Amino acid sequence: MSTLKAVRGTRDLLPPETVLWNRVEATARAVFARYNFGEIRTPVFEDTALFARGVGEETDIVSKEMYTWEDRARAQSEKPQSLTLRPENTAGVVRAYIEHGLGESGQLQKLYYIGPQFRRERPQKGRYRQFAQIGAEVIGPPSSGSESPLRDAEVLEMLATLLDELGITGWTLHLNSVGSAADLARYDVARRAALVPVVGQLCADCQRRAVTNPLRVLDCKVPADQPIIETLPVIADSLDEASQTHFAAVTAALDAAGVPYTLNPRLVRGLDYYTRTTFEFTHDGLGAQNALLGGGRYDGLSEALGGPRAPGIGFAIGEDRLVLTLLAQESAPPQVDAYIAPLGETLNTAALVLARELRHKGLWIELGDGSFRLKKSFEAAEKTARRIVILGEDELQSGILTVKTFSTGLQTKVPRAELGVFLSEPASK
Ligand code: HAM
Repeated sequence: MSTLKAVRGTRDLLPPETVLWNRVEATARAVFARYNFGEIRTPVFEDTALFARGVGEETDIVSKEMYTWEDRARAQSEKPQSLTLRPENTAGVVRAYIEHGLGESGQLQKLYYIGPQFRRERPQKGRYRQFAQIGAEVIGPPSSGSESPLRDAEVLEMLATLLDELGITGWTLHLNSVGSAADLARYDVARRAALVPVVGQLCADCQRRAVTNPLRVLDCKVPADQPIIETLPVIADSLDEASQTHFAAVTAALDAAGVPYTLNPRLVRGLDYYTRTTFEFTHDGLGAQNALLGGGRYDGLSEALGGPRAPGIGFAIGEDRLVLTLLAQESAPPQVDAYIAPLGETLNTAALVLARELRHKGLWIELGDGSFRLKKSFEAAEKTARRIVILGEDELQSGILTVKTFSTGLQTKVPRAELGVFLSEPASK
């Protein structure tokens, strides 16, 4: 019988990597709390129409990548329904905002989420069919200040803070404005006109996009198309005064807060709901899939979903890519504070009691086995922990334990009462 494996594009996350996932999520929650964001959890599957209307029929995500199925009716009264595993979370959050009347309080809603998303993409490093996003959305009625460029700047400053706190260095923030719906309509006309003489030289996908959604031509990755795309007008030329002023206020606030960015007029993003500010943070360590996170403003999304006017801005971090970056950056030191090695099976119970004592003090302890020879204990300890604590008959009687710190090679005698404090000190000491 052939053995069963995780489905292509999905994967198991195992220790010790899961330690990093938990650390990333705990840091994100702590940072979001400081900016007064609350958590939202929306369902993993939704009505297919939500993504068709929210993300856009013509996007790659909706036209090619969704896991969609016809859900059978269970009763005569039920109609079969087309359902889809969420490919992203913004549409779901805005649906929930409308459904629960969250705008009725008049307050700005600041919501974050952490969870799996699904896209049937060609799997490669950093690109999976099930992946996790850590995202946040700021949305509210215009009277709550949801349109203010201050919100854009605050979200970007929060992201810079989060990446800094996670210890991610070397990121680049690419920033653009795709303008208002009216700017986009004007740009659409200009772009269609500019495409007419060159469309025949572009790839088949672009020829289709040139008719259905010319903005998407900017998304094209086909190398041969690039010289032609370079000559097409950019959206910045079509921004009206209000959009220009809004964008200038965002960049001025980022300058004041000391958040570095690069203006990238070709950044359009793969989802149709964006208006005005759009952005991506990239990291060179990621290779081809170098977008660590992406986001932007979506001032018309709520109305497109049948809700009230509710401008918003948000982002989603690719958690898989964030963890890949951290893994590449650091040679993660073992997280376990100490490995306790009892010298002989008769000391196993005493070792269990010592482990219990230390664990109650909050230390991370791995417990060895007295049936191991000392050499084997040392080998096991060095793989898992920062220090080894030897527990023999003498140590038990005298209450003085022998501790070896692997990073320095130092062997130290430590009274049992002081062991907790000693083991919680950084291992470089
Ligand atoms: P997105 O750019 O489609 O935006 O995805 C955001 C991030 O999710 C990407 O930058 C990437 O790190 C990660 N990601 C996307 N697809 C995959 C994949 N197949 N495998 C691994 N990671 C992936 C959105 O999803 C928007 N909802 C962001 C947003 C929130 N805009 C406004 N609010």
